[in-house]
Amino acid sequence: MKKKIILAYSGGVDTSVAIKWLQEKYKVDVIAVTIDVGNEKDFKVVRQKALKVGAKKALVIDGKELFVKYFIFPALQANALYEGQYPLATALSRPLMAKLLVDTAAAEGATAIAHGCTGKGNDQVRLEVGINALAPDMKILAPAREWGMTREETIKYAQDNGIPIPVTKKSPYSIDENLWGKSIECGVLEDPWAEPPADAYTWTKSPDEAPSKPQYIEIGFEKGIPVSLDGKKMEGIALIQKMNETAGKHGIGRIDHIENRVVGIKSREIYEAPAAVVLIQAHQALEAMTMSKDQLRFKQKVSVECADLIYNGLWFSQLNRDLSAYILSSQRYVTGTVRVKLFKGQATVVGRKSPWSLYNLSLATYDKGDKFDQKAAEGFIHLWGLPVKTQAQIQLLGDKEGPLSIMGPDEEKKKK
Ligand code: ARG
Repeated sequence: MKKKIILAYSGGVDTSVAIKWLQEKYKVDVIAVTIDVGNEKDFKVVRQKALKVGAKKALVIDGKELFVKYFIFPALQANALYEGQYPLATALSRPLMAKLLVDTAAAEGATAIAHGCTGKGNDQVRLEVGINALAPDMKILAPAREWGMTREETIKYAQDNGIPIPVTKKSPYSIDENLWGKSIECGVLEDPWAEPPADAYTWTKSPDEAPSKPQYIEIGFEKGIPVSLDGKKMEGIALIQKMNETAGKHGIGRIDHIENRVVGIKSREIYEAPAAVVLIQAHQALEAMTMSKDQLRFKQKVSVECADLIYNGLWFSQLNRDLSAYILSSQRYVTGTVRVKLFKGQATVVGRKSPWSLYNLSLATYDKGDKFDQKAAEGFIHLWGLPVKTQAQIQLLGDKEGPLSIMGPDEEKKKK
């Protein structure tokens, strides 16, 4: 009996060629596994294609619910944005894929897992580190890294082997998408000076073609998780889909990012992530209302660590477990409603309320009902400024350059 290999199958040219190539090179049976993480794809067609190209078996696994529960929402609670910009849609999906591929390999008695990533990207790192963590003895094959074919050669190989190539004008971009966003690269986007052409975007309207009237939405959160839209309870998948659609229509969620890949390359990536952008913004607004200054500051640091770790493919590390525990704990009181205005490419938080709000009107107001003890400010300032005052008396006022020396010699010369 032939050995069995699991192939992470997308339905594209590369993974289709990989089916044939793996069979020929390794004399194995290929089981194509396609994971649905909310891509806009006809999975029946993908499955049929795998079988047609020669896969012994083709499985489609619905990973949407797991994706939302264990990956998207925890990342939202963390406000995870890689380098402050990228909501990590692609990056978050890879550890889930690794898990489902490993499970399928076990169920099917397969001895190896193959994927279609090249040697230049992040996704090979995320998938393989994930698989290694979950199944240390599993063999991993990366045909696209091994076969050394150019794009043209791959297409020629496909034609020679009767692998259908889409006849419709192929998109000049390399695309990866799921519920949390769409990643777009290659083609003209490789020129960092070139503005992305209109056809790079499919989830979002151009802000200048967006509706000329703003739309207001109310997002309800419970412990940092969005649970309702405009007062209507919604499940995660439906809520995210709805947010993508609504915010996308207003041209919200376009991101143009020069990012630092794990493998040392700077790359230019375009993202469309309407739901992620709005939800993270709204979530942050609710945190600002319900968490102390110190909690917020500390959480920001954790957030950067979480985003890096997700991007860098270290999902299954114990550090992730530790940070996740902190993030989860931090969300105890992040419950309430945020009102967001969607208008011409911009989402703006215009209102927030929470039963746990730390905002206290009688402390904040400048009007009647002020409970703030203004007299207490005097003593507070005296002690708060004491170290600065002490230091100034000893080191600053005696300095012959005078107080301006604190700005440095150049600045000072300009002043003179
Ligand atoms: N740069 C993004 C990341 O590393 C997306 C990678 C996949 N993008 C693509 N267009 N194929 O997570």
